[in-house]
Amino acid sequence: MKGLFISFEGPDGTGKTTQLKNVATALRAQGYEVLESREPGGTIMAEKVRNIVLDPDLPINNITEVLLFSAARSEHVEKVLAPAVEAGKIVLCDRFSDSTLVYQGLTRGLKLDELGELRQLNAFASNGLVPDMTLLLDGRPEVLAIRRDARGVSDRYENKGLDFQHSLRNGFLALAEAEPERIKVINAEGTQEEVQDLIMQEITALLEKVKA
Ligand code: TYD
Repeated sequence: MKGLFISFEGPDGTGKTTQLKNVATALRAQGYEVLESREPGGTIMAEKVRNIVLDPDLPINNITEVLLFSAARSEHVEKVLAPAVEAGKIVLCDRFSDSTLVYQGLTRGLKLDELGELRQLNAFASNGLVPDMTLLLDGRPEVLAIRRDARGVSDRYENKGLDFQHSLRNGFLALAEAEPERIKVINAEGTQEEVQDLIMQEITALLEKVKA
């Protein structure tokens, strides 16, 4: 069987990264070969770009920024993601092209029907690789912010406050509404176990569909 490519998306502080790790462990226990990766990142070059693009002390203009995310993505897809899918693995990726549409597009004032350029750039950078399924971890920013504060994380995006988190959430939900077949909205306000159950239900359904 050809592999599967599953991306995890959502605003900052949804617990996405922890969930991804736990899901990888659960799938491995079922006998699947799983590759975990993240964006920006996943190769040596792309991790270097990550350090540049997420450095809060290094102001860069919007166009440079989206090109850097795209450059990192191109490396990542060609060297890591596409070969793993081709080899039959289940690839779990912490963020992918939808983050570009939301962070570089919808939260910067673009409307859903104004994302054409960014969509083209995504397709170019990812050489047409689209997730088989995207798990959107969603919750009220006020609730999720409590966890984020507990983590004490700080970067360029996470410093922007609650209004920004609302606009991220609305952006991701707008994408999900437009592509309900691919993007599954997961209620991320529950306990770690509850959220993992919801995610595993979606992945199990997808695995059954591709095996049928
Ligand atoms: P990270 O620390 O991994 O954040 P999180 O834990 O919330 O996933 O940093 C990734 C940041 O990069 C995140 O704030 C979203 C941002 N990003 C973009 O703006 N555009 C993109 O295309 C990608 C992949 C990420």
